Amino acid sequence: MTPLDTGPLSTRTQLLQEDDLRRGLREDVLAGLRATPKRLAPKWLYDAAGSELFDAITALPEYYPTEAERAALRLAADEIAERSGARTVMELGSGSSDKTRTILDALRPHRYIAFDVSESALDGAAAGLRRRYPGMRVDCVVGDFDQHLAFLPEGADRMLVFLGGTIGNYPPEPRAKLLSAMSATLQPGETLLLGTDLVKDPRRLVRAYDDSAGVTAAFNRNILTILNRELRADFDLDGFEHVALWDTDNEWIEMRLRARRAQHVRVAELDLDVDFAEGEEMHTEVSCKFRREKVEQELDGAGLDLIGWWTDPAEDFGLSLSRKR
Ligand code: SAH
Ligand code: AVI
Repeated sequence: MTPLDTGPLSTRTQLLQEDDLRRGLREDVLAGLRATPKRLAPKWLYDAAGSELFDAITALPEYYPTEAERAALRLAADEIAERSGARTVMELGSGSSDKTRTILDALRPHRYIAFDVSESALDGAAAGLRRRYPGMRVDCVVGDFDQHLAFLPEGADRMLVFLGGTIGNYPPEPRAKLLSAMSATLQPGETLLLGTDLVKDPRRLVRAYDDSAGVTAAFNRNILTILNRELRADFDLDGFEHVALWDTDNEWIEMRLRARRAQHVRVAELDLDVDFAEGEEMHTEVSCKFRREKVEQELDGAGLDLIGWWTDPAEDFGLSLSRKR
C-alpha cells in the first residue's frame, strides 16, 4: 500500500487511481453492452452522486434493510465483540460507516480500516470517525474488493466486516469466489461479520427497490449519467425507465433499465454504437435475499464456520459471525 496522508492515527491509501477506474469501466461497459441481455456491473453505480443517492435510499420508509440491520447490530454487538475478540476491524464497502459505529462502540478496537471504491463516501465517513474515536487508528483505503483484498494489512486479531447486504449484489458463482477471497485474507481463528438481507414477502421487496419518491429509480439511472460523463456516451436518461422485479426461482431482486422506445446510443470513448429495441431491458443489479441455511452453507464452502447468527426482531435481516477454520 502507498499511504498518501500519513499520521500516527490516520492514513489514506489510494489503490485505485482515476485511470484504473476508467479502464475498468471501459472494459466492463464494452463487454456489457455487447452482451445479450445488455448488462452493467453495480459497482459503477457509486460515483459521488451515486453514493449520495444510496444514502438517500437508506432513509426511505420502503427501504427496510438499513434500519433492520442496525437493529440486529444493536442486539448482537456485545456478543460479536466477545466472540470475535478482534482488535482490528476491516470493513469492505464501508460507505458512510454509519452502522459500523455500533460495533466499534462495543469492540473499541485499536484500528479500523474503511475500504470502499467510492472516494467521496470514504472522505465523508473519515472525519466523523476520527472525531468520535480519538484514540483509534482510522485507515481509509480507496480500492476494489474484487481486486485488492491482498492489500489488507496482516495481523492475527482481525475481523472482516461486510454489511448492508452488499454480498447479495453478487450472483452465486462470483459470490462464492468473493467469499473465498475474503476467507483467504484471514488467519485461522479470525472472523467475518456478514450482513445478509432475508427472503420475505415479494411485495415488500419490490417496494424497497421501487420506492414512491423515485430515489431508487434515480440511483439506477445515475449509471447512465456516469457513462455519459466518463465514456462520452449520449444516453437520454428520459429514454429509460427503472424496473425492479422479484425473481422467485433465484430469490433475488433484479434492477433493470428499460428502453421506453427504440434508440441508438453512441459511446464515443469506446467507439461503440449500440441499439436498444423498444422495451429492451438492460440489467444493472441483482440483490440476492438469503435464508440462514444458505448463508451457513456458503460460508462453510469458503472455509468459514458459523459461530453466531442474529436478526432484527422482525427477522428481516440476518447477521452472521463466522470463524476461519
Ligand atoms: N456498508 C454500507 C454501504 C453499502 S452500499 C451500508 O451498509 O450502508 C455498497 C458500498 O459498497 C458502496 O459504498 C460502494 O461504493 C461499495 N462498493 C461496491 N462495489 C465495490 C467494490 N467492488 N469494491 C469496493 N467497494 C465497493
Ligand atoms: C448496496 N446494496 C446492498 C443495495 C441493495 O439493497 O442491494 C444497493 C441498492 N440497490 C437498490 N437499492 C439499494
